[in-house]
Amino acid sequence: MHNQLVPRGRFISVEGVDGAGKSTQLSWIDRWLTSEKIAHIVTREPGGTPLGEKLRALLLNEPMHLETEALLMFASRREHLAGIIEPALARGEWVLCDRFSDATYAYQGGGRGLPKEKFEALERWVQDRGGEMIQPDLTLLFDVPPEVSQARIAKSRELDRFEREAASFHERVRNAYLERARAAPHRFRIVNAARPIEVIQQELHVLLSGWAHETLA
Ligand code: TYD
Repeated sequence: MHNQLVPRGRFISVEGVDGAGKSTQLSWIDRWLTSEKIAHIVTREPGGTPLGEKLRALLLNEPMHLETEALLMFASRREHLAGIIEPALARGEWVLCDRFSDATYAYQGGGRGLPKEKFEALERWVQDRGGEMIQPDLTLLFDVPPEVSQARIAKSRELDRFEREAASFHERVRNAYLERARAAPHRFRIVNAARPIEVIQQELHVLLSGWAHETLA
């Protein structure tokens, strides 16, 4: 399917525990890509497609078995890859994605306690295209200590099923993210998100300019 004449786009995912300030930084990255004249789309998981958004509403609100939750995350991802992510990359556009599979390892694995072998099998099914595993080229992990994320969540008005979980759940999610980052240092960049927004954005500017320069060289 990939048009050989158009260089494939780059895939960037943004991750972090609830309350890490990910959404604010994601909008900034969107504006940065626009200012760099890099054609891109912004999308999210769970969601990103009409069916995926329906699954998202269920996942965030409806009580369900923990394995159903993991399976629906990957079902939404399959639809998202086929309908949105792969076509955009093939057109040469960059994809800025609010969460991807690392979130399943962190939330359904670290948070809920499902063994990672389950996700490895689903990942192969959903992300393996002809022997090539589709993974983000760059994953920005916005990391904050539990007291900071919990204080930020406490300020939100309506909490979803994940945000309502105990502090210990969020701590396990954070640790699972850090473990994922340690296991794949070539694609992860950990950003200390406990600092003021402007300081983080200065760091993002340097980080993204350097990465884009390197990856496009
Ligand atoms: P989030 O990305 O935090 O959106 P918002 O900023 O609008 O609240 O919400 C998505 C929630 O879904 C978040 O709590 C993490 C959870 N999630 C998983 O548990 N597993 C996954 O694989 C994904 C993609 C998300």
